[in-house]
Amino acid sequence: MKGIILAGGLGTRLSPLTKITNKHLLPIYDKPMIFYPLQTLVNAGIKDILLVTGGNNAGDFLRLLGNGHEFGLKGLQYAYQEREGGIADALALAEHFCEGEKIVVMLGDNIIEGNIVKAVNQFQRQREGAKILLKEVDSPQDYGVAQIKGDKVVHIVEKPKKPVSNFAVIGIYMYDATVFNIVKTLKPSGRGELEITDVNNVYIEKGKMTYDVLEGWWADAGASIERLLKVNMMVYESGANKINMKKQ
Ligand code: G1P
Repeated sequence: MKGIILAGGLGTRLSPLTKITNKHLLPIYDKPMIFYPLQTLVNAGIKDILLVTGGNNAGDFLRLLGNGHEFGLKGLQYAYQEREGGIADALALAEHFCEGEKIVVMLGDNIIEGNIVKAVNQFQRQREGAKILLKEVDSPQDYGVAQIKGDKVVHIVEKPKKPVSNFAVIGIYMYDATVFNIVKTLKPSGRGELEITDVNNVYIEKGKMTYDVLEGWWADAGASIERLLKVNMMVYESGANKINMKKQ
C-alpha cells in the first residue's frame, strides 16, 4: 500500500501565521506539523510515500524532509500543486504514483495520538472500495459528518449546520485505485473545491465503504488558531511528539 500526504492549501484559517509560510511547516510543540502525518504513515508500515504541496514554500519541504531518511525511508516523492482546487483535486496528482495499488491518503494537518495500523491491515484484506476513520467530537459542524446506520456509514455531509451525529470523518482515507476515476467525475462544491466528502459519498452509494473508529485523540491542527494551540498542548502533554527520528 502506498501513502499520500496532502500538504497544500492557503491555510487561511491560520492567517496571519500562514501569510509567509505553508501551514504544514508551522510548529506543533517541538517539530514542524508535517512530521506528524509522515510518522503516522511510517508507523503503519507504509514506506512508499508521496507528498503533495504547492505555493511559494514548496521548496522548504524538500529542505526539511529531504529523502525521508530521518524517518527510516529509502526515499520520498514530491508533487507540486499548481492551483488551489481542494483535497480531491490535489489527490488527482497522485494517480501516476499509485500504479493501481491501494492507497492511504492523509491530510498534513491531521495529528493523532495513537496509530492506524489496525485499520490499514483491515483495508489490506478488504477486496475493494474504501475505508474511512471516524472520531466523536464536540463540534461536528467543523468537519465532514458521518450518518451511521448499524455497521454502515450511509452518508457524509461536509460541515453541516445541523449535524446528524457527532462522528467527524478524520483526514485519513483509504482507497482502491478506482478513486482516480471518481475524482474525474466530481464537480466543484459551493466553496469552489473538489471535495473529498463527494469522493467518499460515491463509495458509500456503491456499497463499498467501510469505517473504523479511531482510538486515542485526533486533531485537525489547521481548523483554527485555537485548535492549533490546543494541539500543541495535547502533543506536549501526551508525549505524542516522541517521533522515532533516525540520526543522520
Ligand atoms: C477536510 C474535509 C473534512 C474533514 C477534515 C478533517 O476539511 O473536507 O471532511 O472532516 O478535513 O481534518 P478541511 O479542514 O480541509 O476544511
